[in-house]
Amino acid sequence: MATRRTLLATTLGAGLLPTISMRSRAGALYDEYAEEYDGLESGRAAQLLGLAGLRGRLASMARGDALEIGAGTGLNLPWLLARPLTSYTALDLSGAMLAGARARLARAPPPPFPVRFVAGDAARLPFPAHSFDCVLSSYALCAMDRPDAALSEALRVLRPGGQLLLLEHARSELWPLSWYQDRTARAVAALSKGCRWDREVGSLVRAAGGEVRALERHLLGTVVLLDAEPRA
Ligand SMILES: C[S@@+](CC[C@H](N)C(=O)[O-])C[C@H]1O[C@@H](n2cnc3c(N)ncnc32)[C@H](O)[C@@H]1O
Repeated sequence: MATRRTLLATTLGAGLLPTISMRSRAGALYDEYAEEYDGLESGRAAQLLGLAGLRGRLASMARGDALEIGAGTGLNLPWLLARPLTSYTALDLSGAMLAGARARLARAPPPPFPVRFVAGDAARLPFPAHSFDCVLSSYALCAMDRPDAALSEALRVLRPGGQLLLLEHARSELWPLSWYQDRTARAVAALSKGCRWDREVGSLVRAAGGEVRALERHLLGTVVLLDAEPRA
């Protein structure tokens, strides 16, 4: 997520924005962005929009052996470390973002379960099938080149009865907001490290083989909190 950049882009409107060629490697983009990330994503704007509360809600559903994809600098760690997990694995393409997560863990009281950090691509998870009780992600699918592959992989590594928990930017169901998102998505992505705010998250999960158990819409439907499981 890139709150200020997204707001700037949407305020200006797509028509006024220059075409900015996008770099393909999200990991390299986020390596550059890592130092300023926390200031933008957990700052005052995020608090005012209630985004921290939604992170807490997402983490409150995590259980067992948990994998976070696109974990970034570990902004969900404060909540996740307070959960009765049996293990926590943070995966991200960007080494610099993961370094931020490692530093955050080092500042926290030691958790009573193992924590590991893995540099990798969510679209090709380096784990066997049925390795985790839950896979979670916040504001990361929007930054992924292949969200469909990442979701298929997330469902593959879940154990039967496991949970896929997502807090993500999404295409609103409200017209004309959805129309505006469609029109501005490319420009917003160019200004916000590839973040697409026009993804139909529920549909993507279903297409990847997930059964959506609950889907809440927030901020006029531009953010969704979703709870799904692998389809039997
Ligand atoms: C907007 S940040 C969100 C970080 C964190 N989840 C949060 O809520 O603050 C998006 C993250 O997704 C990571 N990312 C993008 N594509 C990825 C991929 N294919 N596999 C793993 N991580 C990816 C980026 O490196 C970045 O850390």
